[in-house]
Amino acid sequence: MKTFYIETFGCQMNAHDSEKVAGTLLQQGYTQVENPEEAELILYNTCSIRDKAEQKVFSRLQQFKRESGKGKVFGVLGCVAQQEGEKIFERAPHVSLVAGSASYTKLPQLLVQLEAGNRRVTGLSLDTGETFDTPFTRRDNPHRAYITIIEGCDKACAYCVVPMTRGPERSRTSESVLREARSLAELGYSEVQLLGQNVNSYRDPSDTQWDFARLLRAVGEIDGLRRVRFTTSHPRDFVKEMVAAIDQDERLCNHVHLPVQSGSSDVLSRMQRLYSRDQYMRCIEWMKRAKRDIAITTDIIVGFPGETEADFLETVSLIEQIEYDSMFIFKYSKRPNTPALRYDDHIPEEEKTRRFLFLQERQRAIQIRRNSRYVGTTEEVHVEGYNLATHQWIGRTSQNKTLNFIDPDLPEPRGARTLVGQYMDVLVTRAGPNSLAGERATNRPASIS
Ligand code: 5AD
Ligand code: SF4
Repeated sequence: MKTFYIETFGCQMNAHDSEKVAGTLLQQGYTQVENPEEAELILYNTCSIRDKAEQKVFSRLQQFKRESGKGKVFGVLGCVAQQEGEKIFERAPHVSLVAGSASYTKLPQLLVQLEAGNRRVTGLSLDTGETFDTPFTRRDNPHRAYITIIEGCDKACAYCVVPMTRGPERSRTSESVLREARSLAELGYSEVQLLGQNVNSYRDPSDTQWDFARLLRAVGEIDGLRRVRFTTSHPRDFVKEMVAAIDQDERLCNHVHLPVQSGSSDVLSRMQRLYSRDQYMRCIEWMKRAKRDIAITTDIIVGFPGETEADFLETVSLIEQIEYDSMFIFKYSKRPNTPALRYDDHIPEEEKTRRFLFLQERQRAIQIRRNSRYVGTTEEVHVEGYNLATHQWIGRTSQNKTLNFIDPDLPEPRGARTLVGQYMDVLVTRAGPNSLAGERATNRPASIS
């Protein structure tokens, strides 16, 4: 019996790639195990977006180095594999497989080479027009499913490794996306999440040439699906039609993640982001004027080379103006082979930390303010789990907010009785910066969204 273990780092694209890789291995006769000690094949699906993420895999490889003597085979997949290539063999000689995401279609062949006893097997070509589609995906969640609609990235943000690690942009046909979404609905999934590095750069390669908004509307119409999410959108490709689609179909979740990176047009230009602060604000205005209350979230990089105090204060004013529902803040991290590496005015680490903490504090106050608007309203949640420590059910609203709640009829899971996977109305009674809390509603007053 061949066994494998897979650990995933990084974004949702990686999480979903791991589901597809696991499915492919199961199809090849492998069995998945939950800890590396029991596995013959140990795979790490890696992320290299920031230096810290990249270091994680090397410390993991060190940790299990001794095990390689016991006949275990190690593989590095994903963005670090693509970025470092054969150098990984030098740094961690016990690794036998190095493959980037653009090579996963070749995974069955690579596995055959490994099983034949090949000590060094690689899949590193980025020269692909294909996406990694497989009917064998082994999904981690029985209620919410990821669907890749576009892979790779054709943008060239000055700080970012992704164009180098995931290769050129390629979209799946709308027909194959819809086929997958329909079959998921038939299998009982009520929520799907459309994935892409730039999900809204989607362009159907078949004759219909659907754009992202058209595809989104079509997925929303599939019988059996109750929630459709999508991530990540790029401001340059954001169109009003996406807001119109959300406004017209409640099944399309009213949440948009739209990374801004900086509030300064000057920094945006040096980041090669392809939009100015004003152009970004236009997208925000479309959402603020929508009929539905659309939650807006973002990513921000502080301490990009050359970011002055004045530039940073423009980011502060932008977040105060927009009032995001939540944000990820990152300190700029130097990445190999990226244009920004050659910029000379790098910001000291302590200054990056100061800006990070300042922004985090401001955003915390904004989130408390925004979340407190929900107290007294009733929101529909999709129940995702049960927290044994707090004795609360964990729900998620259409706006992607965590809403923990108690249900007097079922205070905890009992045998086969669980609320997980169900949709229910919850009265919000408390709000914190990062989540809401409440109790199951018996009747339904108006909701904020
Ligand atoms: N340093 C810091 N943050 C980065 N991101 C991408 N590249 C870098 C980098 N070199 C952030 C961006 C992106 C998110 C996924 O990671 O904000 O939107
Ligand atoms: Fe990390 Fe980016 Fe690769 Fe996702 S695409 S795993 S965030 S480097």
